[in-house]
Amino acid sequence: MSKNKLSKFADVHALPNVVEVPYAELITGSYPLKGNWSRQFFGNDNPVVLELGCGKGEYTVGLAENFPDKNFIGIDIKGARIWTGATAAHERGLRNAGFIRTYVELLPAFFGPEEISEIWITFPDPQMKKQRKRLTSTKLLTHYGKMMKPGGVIHLKTDSNFLYQYTTALVHLNGFKVEAETDDLYSSEYADEIRGIKTYYEVQWLSRGLKIKYLRFIPHFDNLIEPEIEIEWDEYRSFGRDRRSSVVGK
Ligand SMILES: C[S@@+](CC[C@H](N)C(=O)[O-])C[C@H]1O[C@@H](n2cnc3c(N)ncnc32)[C@H](O)[C@@H]1O
Repeated sequence: MSKNKLSKFADVHALPNVVEVPYAELITGSYPLKGNWSRQFFGNDNPVVLELGCGKGEYTVGLAENFPDKNFIGIDIKGARIWTGATAAHERGLRNAGFIRTYVELLPAFFGPEEISEIWITFPDPQMKKQRKRLTSTKLLTHYGKMMKPGGVIHLKTDSNFLYQYTTALVHLNGFKVEAETDDLYSSEYADEIRGIKTYYEVQWLSRGLKIKYLRFIPHFDNLIEPEIEIEWDEYRSFGRDRRSSVVGK
């Protein structure tokens, strides 16, 4: 029987692989797992990889299965969504997958300098009106810089032409090293590298005929500049709110 949102939200607190920390505890700056995730949470010395806005955590779970020598943490504010990934990881006995229910903006309180090796950003809201809320904005990249290892890789998978163009412009303007850049992932040479993992949102967008865009880059975090360019807005918002057929073929 499928569980409803409220019951998932309640259950997520009980799962051993989900972390929630009261804000008051976080802002003291001495959160005990900070700087110690591999050793204390996962019980090993392996690199830590984040999935931001993980929703149901398909990448966190899928990558954890594919790469047992890395630790994966999905980040999302919605407990009912995290429940799906956390339950799957728990039932499959995946010791290298965990989840934090929090805002991305608070991550520097959770992780120490150079604690994160790699970041996946999977189908985020493009935040066309609010640049500072985009998960690839200079504001949030600066946050990531407080916890990423030098040379750490960021992956962006998106349906949004707007977010893809914005991020591509930002990446080039700031001279980041680009490892992959395609506006049609599944027709590109990078298709095999993403391990066949498709997220919940990705499946919906693909079924509507949208092309998936993919960027993989190595950022730096010094004096980041926002691109000052006009970008045409996507003709749709979320598939849940506006099922316009005009997006087909975009
Ligand atoms: C469009 S959904 C994509 C979910 C999943 N990655 C997928 O592809 O199916 C975006 C997710 O990001 C989460 N999210 C958006 N902004 C966030 C933030 N600032 N901090 C934490 N989670 C956020 C939302 O709760 C939502 O689950």
